[in-house]
Amino acid sequence: MIIIKNNKEIEKMRKVGKFAAQLLDYIEPFVKEGVTTLYLNDLCEEFTQKHGAISAPLHYNGFPKSICTSINNVVCHGIPSKNDILKDGDIINIDVTVILDGFHGDTSRTFMIGTVDDNVKNLVRRTKKAMYKGINAVKPGKYLYEVGKAIEKYISKFGYSIVREYGGHGIGREFHEEPQVFHHFTLSNKMPLREGMTFTIEPMINMGSSYLVKTSKKDGWTVTTADGSPSAQFEHTILVTADGAEILTKI
Ligand code: MF3
Ligand code: CO
Ligand code: CO
Repeated sequence: MIIIKNNKEIEKMRKVGKFAAQLLDYIEPFVKEGVTTLYLNDLCEEFTQKHGAISAPLHYNGFPKSICTSINNVVCHGIPSKNDILKDGDIINIDVTVILDGFHGDTSRTFMIGTVDDNVKNLVRRTKKAMYKGINAVKPGKYLYEVGKAIEKYISKFGYSIVREYGGHGIGREFHEEPQVFHHFTLSNKMPLREGMTFTIEPMINMGSSYLVKTSKKDGWTVTTADGSPSAQFEHTILVTADGAEILTKI
């Protein structure tokens, strides 16, 4: 069941969305060569608590930390660690989800460390653009699959691949609600968009030609590309409005 949010709930989604964006803005200057992902995690946790919010990932289905930090060939759900030190040329996606007044805001960006290979830079830039292609395809009355269709149309010309195993999701009182949002075209997303829906658009784009991924047997979380190629991701939480989409996770 897809939950349509009323005005009061939408106000709360706006508030938490804005806070999630503030959290990413706060952490950005610390995302530099030489720091550990655990340090970034701890700063985020501290900032979140200081503002009376809750880190949703912490203990979610047993996830052990407050944010996800996914470096290079890690697609998503990377676990912050004292052993992961950012180095020149890395890309890292930082995915934050916070709870304020019972509602969730979920957003991520991929950051570049020092001098990044031009091909990888392009991957990051185009992944961000792909997310906006998806957002701009949202309109009440249209089918949800227009999101994946727009992303696929844009991304296919680069020889990259769109991860299929993980997607966007409805969001509100729950971290993950219906619908599941695919970032490629599929008829399983043939449901009409309606004003008041809130969901994320968060394409994961692999630089290689394979969309296949694998999950670490060691920690049960870390998702990497099957072919070892780099992967980038950007995420916003959006609201379906009368004439399009409102990005909730921005300031
Ligand atoms: N924030 C991720 C998403 O965009 C989900 C992370 S689940 C966790 O849906 F358990 F790994 F935190
Ligand atoms: Co999400
Ligand atoms: Co997220």
